[in-house]
Amino acid sequence: MKVSMDWTLVIIVLQVFFQPSLSVLFTVQAEQTVYQSKYGEKVVMGCRFSPQPANPKSDLKVTWHQITPSSFQEVIRLDNGEISASQIYQGRVRLLTEDGWAKLEMSRLRINDSGTYQCLVQTSDGDDYKSISLSVVAPYKSVTKHIEEAAEAGDVILTCQSEGFPQSSVAWQVGHQRTHNPSNTSVSETPDGLLKITTQIQVSSSERNNYTCNFTKDGSSATFHIPDEIPQKSKNDAAIVIVSILVITGVVTVGVLAYRRRISKKGSRAHSVHSTRNLLVDGEDKSAATCIQIDKENADVVINVDDMEETLGSRLKAFYSEYSAETRRHCGAFSVEELPQRLQNNDGQPVNPLDLLPEPGETVFLEGLPGNGKTTVAHILVSSWAREPSHSLDLSNLSLLLCVDCSAVKQDLYQEIKTQLSLPEETSAEELRTVLTKSGKVLLLLDGYREGNHDFDESLRMFLSDKGGCRVLITACPGHCPTLMQTAGAGRTLKFSLQGKSL
Ligand SMILES: *[C@@H]1O[C@H](CO)[C@@H](O)[C@H](O)[C@H]1NC(C)=O
Ligand SMILES: *[C@@H]1O[C@H](CO)[C@@H](O)[C@H](O)[C@H]1NC(C)=O
Ligand SMILES: *[C@@H]1O[C@H](CO)[C@@H](O)[C@H](O)[C@H]1NC(C)=O
Ligand SMILES: *[C@@H]1O[C@H](CO)[C@@H](O)[C@H](O)[C@H]1NC(C)=O
Repeated sequence: MKVSMDWTLVIIVLQVFFQPSLSVLFTVQAEQTVYQSKYGEKVVMGCRFSPQPANPKSDLKVTWHQITPSSFQEVIRLDNGEISASQIYQGRVRLLTEDGWAKLEMSRLRINDSGTYQCLVQTSDGDDYKSISLSVVAPYKSVTKHIEEAAEAGDVILTCQSEGFPQSSVAWQVGHQRTHNPSNTSVSETPDGLLKITTQIQVSSSERNNYTCNFTKDGSSATFHIPDEIPQKSKNDAAIVIVSILVITGVVTVGVLAYRRRISKKGSRAHSVHSTRNLLVDGEDKSAATCIQIDKENADVVINVDDMEETLGSRLKAFYSEYSAETRRHCGAFSVEELPQRLQNNDGQPVNPLDLLPEPGETVFLEGLPGNGKTTVAHILVSSWAREPSHSLDLSNLSLLLCVDCSAVKQDLYQEIKTQLSLPEETSAEELRTVLTKSGKVLLLLDGYREGNHDFDESLRMFLSDKGGCRVLITACPGHCPTLMQTAGAGRTLKFSLQGKSL
């Protein structure tokens, strides 16, 4: 029995060697055996086969599989000239077969797309396959930071958070030295398979120091300037009590004043606000300007936010109406209807123009190359708010829209707002900050922002770190505000881009 089996084997081997092989041996080669790609991006893995069948339509069968320790999952196949993708990959994979190539293109890569893939090619000349390994990584890009009071008086807890894959270590530095404060770092997995790393240290709030957390795998970092960045409220509890008393006194005063003003307003309704640039000065507006002054005399910190929001709102609308008619004549702008074709999210998908509107407390970045129409978008938003609510971009739930042209800023954020929007000289930074942060119905639109102006950058950074409900939309050229994007502060940070040229 044993002997006859051996002989059978020898005969087969001899046959293989001596059979006149008319056709060349059919082989499949991998273009690369290892691919590395990024989360959300696209990869094309290639297998080359030869010889090519004379009639590929009927005589070429290609199958790509993903192999995991527990399964052998078909990804996509070509059979009888028909390509079909498996349900779980549908919409994300394509098979490219031409000139002896069987390429698998996978887009919107996920972390769990990592693994081994196999391309199997079958023709009448023979079958062969190769294995390829793919690893999907996600760089730790934006670092969000947060400061809170520690249980121990005089200390604060600094928190940094970022997402990526695979694991990164985190180093904390004081100035340029590695810090010896013990850090508390935890890792959790997001539904997308990314690792969310949160790291904290506790430091003294009185020592002047710069603390930096560094996600060392990709070198992404965020810096805390202590004590400058500590939110006002945690600096001094006594101040809160005093301010509360002042606020209560103030509200009563302002209530009385507002009542008187309403009465006096009835008489002066006839002089309605005309599009004037000196917004808070003439006609009916005197009462408001005076009101702010009186408030100041009575209680330094008190502003009636609702009143100021309302008066500012109608003045800005008048201001913008004039301004947008003027600018429209100068730039051949595109219309709101064209926006959806130009706006894209991080994955290159089209975006509804309304998504541009940040939620309360949210910061949205809109990036576009010079000439792509960022300023036109700003004009569309401003005029939709001020005059022409369009069905696709209804901004009527915003009580205020403050648009700042950042192309030539020289002063700090509040000064620029005052100068550019012609607000009265006596409006204080604190008043503006209060109105901006209070209600969640205010949009601050920074058009054409670029880092590099110290006063503006610094005041903007401080504002964003404590912006309350303010909605912030920043348009910029790619790469013009790297620091800001990393430290955009609490709340969600979204990034869109604008494609195509403005006419
Ligand atoms: C680390 O953080 C976790 C969660 O925030 C907390 O429960 C734990 O007490 C912290 N440990 C130290 C040593 O601070
Ligand atoms: C892979 O991850 C995605 C989320 O990114 C999830 O929806 C999907 O179910 C996962 N697939 C497997 C096979 O675990
Ligand atoms: C912190 O950094 C800022 C600017 O990055 C610098 O001006 C300042 O001197 C630093 N402070 C300390 C205490 O190192
Ligand atoms: C973060 O760490 C990386 C790697 O150790 C280093 O190259 C980089 O300079 C660090 N960044 C900062 C801001 O310290």
